[in-house]
Amino acid sequence: MSKIKMLNPIAELDGDEMTRILWKQIKEIVLEPFVELNTEYYDLGLRERDRTDDEITKHAAEAIRRLGVGVKCATITPNAGRMTEYDLKRMYPSPNGTLRAMLDGTVFRSPIIVPGLKSYIPGWVRPITVARHAYGDVYKAVEMAVPGKGKAELVFTGEDGVQRKTIYEFSGKGILQGMHNRLDSIESFARSCFEYALDTKQDLWFSSKDTISKIYDETFRETFQRLYDSEYKSRYEAAGITYFYTLIDDAVARCVKSQGGFVWAMKNYDGDVLSDMISSAFGSLALMTSVLVCPGGQYEYEAAHGTVTRHYYRYLKGEKTSTNPMATLFAWTGALRKRGEKDGNADLASFADRLEKAAIDTIVSGTVTGDMAALYNGACTVVDSESFLKAIAEKL
Ligand SMILES: NC(=O)c1ccc[n+]([C@@H]2O[C@H](COP(=O)([O-])OP(=O)(O)OC[C@H]3O[C@@H](n4cnc5c(N)ncnc54)[C@H](O)[C@@H]3O)[C@@H](O)[C@H]2O)c1
Repeated sequence: MSKIKMLNPIAELDGDEMTRILWKQIKEIVLEPFVELNTEYYDLGLRERDRTDDEITKHAAEAIRRLGVGVKCATITPNAGRMTEYDLKRMYPSPNGTLRAMLDGTVFRSPIIVPGLKSYIPGWVRPITVARHAYGDVYKAVEMAVPGKGKAELVFTGEDGVQRKTIYEFSGKGILQGMHNRLDSIESFARSCFEYALDTKQDLWFSSKDTISKIYDETFRETFQRLYDSEYKSRYEAAGITYFYTLIDDAVARCVKSQGGFVWAMKNYDGDVLSDMISSAFGSLALMTSVLVCPGGQYEYEAAHGTVTRHYYRYLKGEKTSTNPMATLFAWTGALRKRGEKDGNADLASFADRLEKAAIDTIVSGTVTGDMAALYNGACTVVDSESFLKAIAEKL
């Protein structure tokens, strides 16, 4: 059988621990026998980040910007324990943080829906994708403990003078917090959300609390509405999808009663909290995919989970582990499909579809990794990661 060719490369960002092992197995077992892989390889494993003083992460971000498509393996974000374990020169920042900051993207997280695997909310039969604004608000807040009686004020010193507003007249001790956001960041977030929903042909929801926060949240609501009316309305109507704004409390209630099948854009804190609720409700972190969509049209795909350290230590002792490769596999199919779409390479895009279908069919027919057994309706066979991937290749 002749292999499918790739006209242009994708940026391949390797990572750490158990996911690094899965990465190699996925390439060898389900990709390389069928596709002539064309990638620019960047090793973001912690040892290489340490050797290059983290320059490798910046080169990888530049490659994604240049090539338009990247696929990333999970990586360790070092803490004090990792400093000793890897004898690091310094405590490097999270590679995902560096990539996001350099590419100015929005992260979209969606579950892989497999018929027969239980969801804690049975009505959710289609994915719910959470888009979280990843700048500002409480994550960049300035806080103060108020020592006693006094007046707290918001003060803005601009080029044309000073504006003041009283926050509160304290009669005793208390606490204060100041948050901010930038219009350019809100606008680029909104644009990424509109583009992603169009690209995946799903409705877009945005929710906030503009009835209470009449300037801050209202600015988010107004930005989404203005962009929709001026740039997206006709494209959404042509695609048969809708943009919908509602208050966050109403959105939560509607979401639980929905069948899924939409993109839900949220402010930073709301997205932080609700993305964990939604991924848990869908069943497993190992079935959650993630894509960074950049205003420049670049896409970086990855699994939402980490490097599965516990399994890696068992692997190092010579055990075969039953680590779930689905989210990492879907990161590859996402990237290959997008490369195919960008290059007009229908063979590559349809290979990605067929590989995803083979993976889902493998689970439906009862071959699963350990984490999925608990979610499975009926009898199933638990196999190690390598056997699971071989079963997918067989179906393919
Ligand atoms: N995107 C990323 O690169 C990313 C994200 C989160 C954590 N991390 C890194 O990963 C390392 C481990 O972190 P963690 O333990 O908090 O998160 P983790 O996602 O690796 O594991 C969390 C829990 O989920 C289970 N799990 C996750 N993925 C699984 C899979 N594919 N198959 C079976 N079980 C799975 C694990 O066994 C564990 O119980 C840390 O060094 C952290 O910095 C990286």
